[in-house]
Amino acid sequence: MSLNAFTARIGRIEISATMAINNEATTLRAQGVDLVDFGAGEPHFATPEHIKQAAVDAIHANFTKYTAVAGTKDLREAVAARHKADFNSNYSFEEAILTVGGKSALFNTFQVLIDHGDEVIIPAPYWVSFKDQVEYCGGKCRFVATSATDGFRLTVAMIEKALTSKTKIILVNSPNNPSGAVVAPEDLAAICKLAAARGIYVLIDECYVYLDYTGRPFSLGSLTEYKDNLLLMGSLSKTYSMTGWRLGFALAPKSVVGQLQKLQSQSTSNPTSIVQKAGLVALTSSQQCVADMRAEYIELRNRIVEGLRAIPNVKCTMPEGAFYAFPDVSAVAAKAGIDTAELTTRLLREGHVVGVPGEAFGLPGHIRFSYATSAKEIDRGLERVKSFFAKL
Ligand SMILES: Cc1ncc(COP(=O)(O)O)c(C=O)c1O
Repeated sequence: MSLNAFTARIGRIEISATMAINNEATTLRAQGVDLVDFGAGEPHFATPEHIKQAAVDAIHANFTKYTAVAGTKDLREAVAARHKADFNSNYSFEEAILTVGGKSALFNTFQVLIDHGDEVIIPAPYWVSFKDQVEYCGGKCRFVATSATDGFRLTVAMIEKALTSKTKIILVNSPNNPSGAVVAPEDLAAICKLAAARGIYVLIDECYVYLDYTGRPFSLGSLTEYKDNLLLMGSLSKTYSMTGWRLGFALAPKSVVGQLQKLQSQSTSNPTSIVQKAGLVALTSSQQCVADMRAEYIELRNRIVEGLRAIPNVKCTMPEGAFYAFPDVSAVAAKAGIDTAELTTRLLREGHVVGVPGEAFGLPGHIRFSYATSAKEIDRGLERVKSFFAKL
């Protein structure tokens, strides 16, 4: 047997497209190129002081040993209590598990529920990891296209058309990465009703649920009648600007949490002990920091969308959440006779602006620009995009 006889499952997935772009950006930066970075999928804010202090205190108190696999009981309770206070959900600590980032809550959930041939319905555009995580388990993705022309609306009728006897999970990500679209509560409720009637799961990725700018933040968890069919994935990464700390969670039926716990006990074990202490403080102290960050994102969103709309041949829907603008640049690409993947690469190499092509999210014709950066950087980037597009 050759040393490089890797498994079939690792051959089914690819390195994330955002990582590939970041690698090229890093190389250019190392050569001294001054880039405007709209590529990053993370907040530009520092982690709030009180959260950092909790981790420092945890180290000094020697809270540095293994904890229970699913996280400490007080943290599991805090996750459930925060969600109840904010969204009127009804979870006990036994229905909560802490994970090493939201990504691992998703990864492990697919691992315990998806077998070879099982299908997962995924609305496009979609966050890059969903597809690879499902395919890693041997599952099959059924994509449902949403479109910028109607604000990326997702309806139950669209989902219904994609259902087959093999469908195990309907996945919804709201607010959506990359489109910023928020699925309307009535559409979400109809999707849950359908799932309950079919005896399948709805997996809702709520990693941006606190970055909802509609003024009517909503969680599927509030529809407690569908609890048995609901897999709710959350993260502290974006809410509290804690991407590097790696703390996420799942709220799900006890039977599912039990399986997640079993898998976690044989893989990562508990999320880092000191991070759990920081997470506990994040969830149980004042939420003003979240409101402050949200207010700033709204200003940045308005600034970038206004600027993008002023560029010839660019159309941009108003994102209702998360921190991405997802303009339609198909007319620019068509004029240059290239696709949006090449347009994004040339924008990086010649225009010195980092974005991620729509191809990575299953919707060519667009580029994702993260506006989690300063107003000054947004202005600099917009100026560069405008002059680069004008030259094509
Ligand atoms: C839609 C979505 N879900 C989940 C995640 C996972 O975040 P983390 O693993 O940092 O909690 C991300 C991160 O970019 C995301 O965009």
